[in-house]
Amino acid sequence: HPVLETNALPAAAADPADAGLQRVDVLIRERLASDVALIEQISAYIIGAGGKRIRPRLVLLFSEALGFDGDERHELAAIVEFIHTATLLHDDVVDESALRRGRATANAVFGNAASVLVGDFLYSRAFQMMVSVNRMRVLEVLADATNVIAEGEVLQLLNMHDPDVSVESYLRVIRYKTAKLFEASARLGAVLGGADAPLEEACAEFGRSLGTAFQLVDDLLDYDGRADELGKNIGDDLREGKPTLPLLLAMERAGDADRQLIRQAIEHGQLERLPEILGIVRRSGALDATRQAAESEAAKARALLDALPPSRARDALLDLCVRSVHRSS
Ligand code: IPE
Ligand code: IPE
Ligand code: MG
Ligand code: MG
Repeated sequence: HPVLETNALPAAAADPADAGLQRVDVLIRERLASDVALIEQISAYIIGAGGKRIRPRLVLLFSEALGFDGDERHELAAIVEFIHTATLLHDDVVDESALRRGRATANAVFGNAASVLVGDFLYSRAFQMMVSVNRMRVLEVLADATNVIAEGEVLQLLNMHDPDVSVESYLRVIRYKTAKLFEASARLGAVLGGADAPLEEACAEFGRSLGTAFQLVDDLLDYDGRADELGKNIGDDLREGKPTLPLLLAMERAGDADRQLIRQAIEHGQLERLPEILGIVRRSGALDATRQAAESEAAKARALLDALPPSRARDALLDLCVRSVHRSS
């Protein structure tokens, strides 16, 4: 088996979840087993490329913060990473992306059909693992999250090439496609830790806010990041005509001519004009405003941590809020 490397977030300090995450990586490798060689090959290709493992980290940190140390936490952490990986395999097909985690995407190497089908394998393997945990509440949380993610991806498809998308509609897409799995991960940690309903809701809301902040920054980095650090190509969103917050805010702020240019880029997806459009987006202050929106979501998340008793795990969650906004990868 290839050695799994995990890309560290910037300034990653020793984290109480680190040891647990090593256990999760072993489990992930075990649970990928299949008689069909291509499945193991493609899964190992994308999972072995690393990734930040933020969602499994949330499961581990919330369960630890609430005093749960049973082995189910590793299983649930592996499950959320499988669901995440399945969405990435599908997302790169839909987005026609060529680079992920510093490697050619699975669709670029193995083709669209194989990527979609192995994504389905990972989803269904995640559901087999959930059943093995044998808790109806866990099944409920993850079935709901998986379904909402799919709704988010379809809503996003409907927004493609539409320059008249509202900020509300954009935010709904990111809450569904990204924040929902962060929410489920945090909630599962709370469920394992035996949280009462108000505490479980606070944990879930933390996940929702952090996930929203995280996707806002992802959308920012698609304009302002560096491919070598991000492990993904810059400009994919513009090429696709994806109306994300940097473009929506730049249109609000730009003069008529610049606004027209951005509208056309969304309608037709013109990567050739990326440098010109990036200049407009930068000058308009839309990137700073997007970062501020992320900061304010992350601040909401941070405040929710007051619901938890003080612990190293809680400190690590605080730290994750900061690092999710100030990241380049
Ligand atoms: C990528 O998620 C998809 C988004 C929600 C932006 P991550 O940035 O967590 O991807 P990996 O797992 O670290 O590669
Ligand atoms: C996140 O959106 C996709 C999922 C939640 C699956 P993006 O399309 O922006 O993610 P990247 O940039 O390809 O990782
Ligand atoms: Mg994508
Ligand atoms: Mg993106």
